[in-house]
Amino acid sequence: MDILVKPLNRVIQVAPGANLLKVLQDAQVPMSYSCMAGRCGTCRCRVIDGEVMEGVGDQQRPLDGDESFVLACQTYVTEPCTIEVPEPDEVVVHPPRIVKATVVTIEDMTHDIKRLVLRPAKPVEFSPGQYVQLHFTKDHARPYSMAGLSRDDAFEFHVRLVPEGRVTGYIARDLAVGDAVKVIGPLGSAYLRRKHDGPILCVAGGTGLAPILSIVRGAVALDMRNPIHLYFGVRSPRDIYGLSWLEQLQREHPALTVHVVVASGGNTATQRCGLVTDVIEQDHGDLTGWRAYLCGSPPMVEAATVVARRKGVDAGHIYADAFYTQGT
Ligand SMILES: Cc1cc2nc3c(=O)[nH]c(=O)nc-3n(C[C@H](O)[C@H](O)[C@H](O)COP(=O)(O)OP(=O)(O)OC[C@H]3O[C@@H](n4cnc5c(N)ncnc54)[C@H](O)[C@@H]3O)c2cc1C
Ligand code: FES
Repeated sequence: MDILVKPLNRVIQVAPGANLLKVLQDAQVPMSYSCMAGRCGTCRCRVIDGEVMEGVGDQQRPLDGDESFVLACQTYVTEPCTIEVPEPDEVVVHPPRIVKATVVTIEDMTHDIKRLVLRPAKPVEFSPGQYVQLHFTKDHARPYSMAGLSRDDAFEFHVRLVPEGRVTGYIARDLAVGDAVKVIGPLGSAYLRRKHDGPILCVAGGTGLAPILSIVRGAVALDMRNPIHLYFGVRSPRDIYGLSWLEQLQREHPALTVHVVVASGGNTATQRCGLVTDVIEQDHGDLTGWRAYLCGSPPMVEAATVVARRKGVDAGHIYADAFYTQGT
């Protein structure tokens, strides 16, 4: 039985029931993957033609509502089909690892955001924009996105304390400098695409600034020259943080434009006020050919996805990292 892999036009012979990711790997098709467990979304690809069987894990993150997208690691080939693999020239493979780390800094950045720095016992390679699962204790584990780059000797995270939050409550009350933390990762597919040289839209809601900082820092480190429009949406003026990092990035990357947008209570004379998605809508006409990185709360990411699509950004060029809650 054959499957046809687009856009490479490769025909691969497979046995019925074979795992799609394994088939692609064995045929040396360039394909990103990470968790191998249906969680991170990195191995997403599209079924153009034919049927496949999905063994969907209960922790799968929502895709974008289009049922033709599948996670290759959770998919089994049952009949001849045509599969489209995304961006074969932008593949990253950082098999997830389990690494011990030590808390070296916990500090307040706003009334409810903490900066957490962990020093891993061994270096961990990741792509700008990815995240890891942090296990503080066996009952306190959650994903958090790195704000820095893998060449740094420490991981930096920005954690917003959620009222009644189980893990953020633990971080606020119990976590101390010197504590050991288990780090599992990296995970996630909203990483910086290095080959793209056109304009980039970055939208960060709250602590979504962490992965967006990582992406822009990565672009600067790679000497990418792309125009970057970074929108940082916060609820109120007291939620703004990280301005000195953004100013430094603007000095390093003159093609970076930063817009801080305050949803309520802002000073209309000195600040951009309103919903970040409305401001993007007003600022831009056609965004055809752009890439969009959208990070933060799920409603903001969903609204920004709608705006980006309406303005002409290709669905396959929207990289979303929505901070879904885990609930366990
Ligand atoms: C891929 C990924 C990356 C993430 N990266 C980051 C990051 O870099 N920084 C960061 O701060 N968070 C990030 N998160 C969110 C994080 O993993 C936790 O969900 C969050 O810290 C809350 O955990 P908790 O255990 O304290 O809350 P829970 O005990 O899980 O939730 C308590 C209550 O608060 C609600 N709640 C949870 N989170 C929020 C929220 N953000 N806003 C409003 N209500 C909420 C829940 O629905 C629930 O009712 C990320 C999530 C994902 C999936
Ligand atoms: S590798 Fe398939 S979802 Fe993570």
